[in-house]
Amino acid sequence: MAVRELTFRIMRYNPDEPEKKPHLQDFHLTEEPGMSLFVVLNKLREEQDPTLRFDFVCRASICGSCGMLVNGKPTLACKTLTKDLPPVTTLLPLPVFKLLGDLSVDTGVWFRDMSLRTESWIHTDETFVPDAPEVRMDNELALKIYEAERCIECGCCIGGCATANIKSDFIGAAGVNRVARFMVDPRDKRTEREYFDVVGTEDGVFGCIGLMACDDNCPVGVPLRDQLAYVRRKMAVAGWHYQKV
Ligand code: FES
Repeated sequence: MAVRELTFRIMRYNPDEPEKKPHLQDFHLTEEPGMSLFVVLNKLREEQDPTLRFDFVCRASICGSCGMLVNGKPTLACKTLTKDLPPVTTLLPLPVFKLLGDLSVDTGVWFRDMSLRTESWIHTDETFVPDAPEVRMDNELALKIYEAERCIECGCCIGGCATANIKSDFIGAAGVNRVARFMVDPRDKRTEREYFDVVGTEDGVFGCIGLMACDDNCPVGVPLRDQLAYVRRKMAVAGWHYQKV
C-alpha cells in the first residue's frame, strides 16, 4: 500500500485571545497503518504544535469526549481511521456547545442543563430502604432501559441537529432519548401530563423538524429515530387529553 501524505486542516481559536480571529491551519503528516484521529492529533500536538487543543479520555468510543466535525460530519475522532479519510481532512469543533479552544468544546454544561430540565432521576414516593433485597426486573424491560442508557453524551446528535443549531434551548435527540429512558421505567411514577410539561413543547419533542441527522450521526447506534417517534406519539396523545381537561 502506497504511503500517503495527509493534510489536516484544523480550526484554531482561543476564546481567551478574541483579537485573533478563528482560522484554519494546515498540518501535514505521514499516514501509518491503523492510524486513528486520536493518534494523528496526539502526534501533531507532540511533534508540531503543543498548543493544539482537543479532548480524549478513553480512546474506545466510551467516554464521549472526542466528538468533532470530521469533514463536516459530527463523529468520534477516536473511532475514525485515517484509511477512511481523503488526503485532506477538515476538523472543526462541534457547534452548539461552548467552545473552549480549537477542537475542544464543553458538552458538560449542556448535558447537565438537559438533565435538570428533564428531571433525570426516578420520581417515586417509595422510601429508600438501603438493606432491602434487590427487586428483579424482567430482562426485556431492562434491555429497553439499557438501550437508552447507552448514550455516551458525546453531543454528535446535537452538533448535527438543524434545530439545535438555530434554537439554543432545544432539548435535542439526547434530551428526548433521556425522557424515553424514564418513560419506559415503571419505577418512575410521573404521569404523562407531567412529562408533557417537560417535553411537550417547541423546545422539546415538537421542535424536531424530522431531518434525523441525530439518528444518522449517533456513533454508538442509539435508536434515536425510534425514541423520538415513541415520545412524540405519547406526547401528542397527552397534549390532546391535556387540552380537554
Ligand atoms: S476518547 Fe472517549 S469516546 Fe473518543
